[in-house]
Amino acid sequence: MNKLTVNIILTIVLFFLIWQTFTYHMVLEKKCQNINEQFKLNMKQLHVTLLYESLCPDTRNFMHQLGPVYKEFQDYIDILLVPFGKAQSERNGAIFHCQHGPAECKGNRLQGCVINSTANQAAQVQFVVCQMLAPDYSRIDQCANEAGLLTDVVQCLSSETGTKLQLQAELVTKKYSPSFIPTIVYNGVFDQQLQDHSLRDFRGTVCYLLRQRNLLPSSSTICQ
Ligand SMILES: *[C@@H]1O[C@H](CO)[C@@H](O)[C@H](O)[C@H]1NC(C)=O
Repeated sequence: MNKLTVNIILTIVLFFLIWQTFTYHMVLEKKCQNINEQFKLNMKQLHVTLLYESLCPDTRNFMHQLGPVYKEFQDYIDILLVPFGKAQSERNGAIFHCQHGPAECKGNRLQGCVINSTANQAAQVQFVVCQMLAPDYSRIDQCANEAGLLTDVVQCLSSETGTKLQLQAELVTKKYSPSFIPTIVYNGVFDQQLQDHSLRDFRGTVCYLLRQRNLLPSSSTICQ
């Protein structure tokens, strides 16, 4: 064989190998996608968005339901806690005005920072319920300890992060223009009837939606 033939053969082999690697990669990627989709299907949850504010008596009442219901249904619920309510930002967050005064703004900001300190929703709910139900809305350290969270949110509170989180909470809240606080939104769509039912019977409403949307495995007895 002369040198040219060898070069041609080597080039062909090289292209073949590259092509093989490429198709193998494609097949693998497709497989992964399928697995991810299956996983998501199996893990489909009811999305709950809670719009609330820190010093609101109606929110406080709702916490009596949220705690136990979340605990029972945490595998079936994906919750987003949004501590903002009827507050308003001014000048891009230089000032916030809150329905129940400056103390409420502080409370919203604190809860926003603590919620942001963990991706663990069970811990977020535990902290928020505990703090909202504390006699004087204090017990920050105690509630954080019980939820297994760090209370080191001083940095967040006094920095741009705290402001940014409140501005984000405002954006989410304004999407639904809530007329009542707390407002409970399911799967991103506000519905007045579901809202009214939720305030009276959150557990019943969650069960109704889980059944209606086929989000319970047939073997589950959780809503019976
Ligand atoms: C905290 O907020 C920041 C900014 O919005 C975000 O990028 C980050 O994922 C949040 N962390 C958690 C644990 O939610």
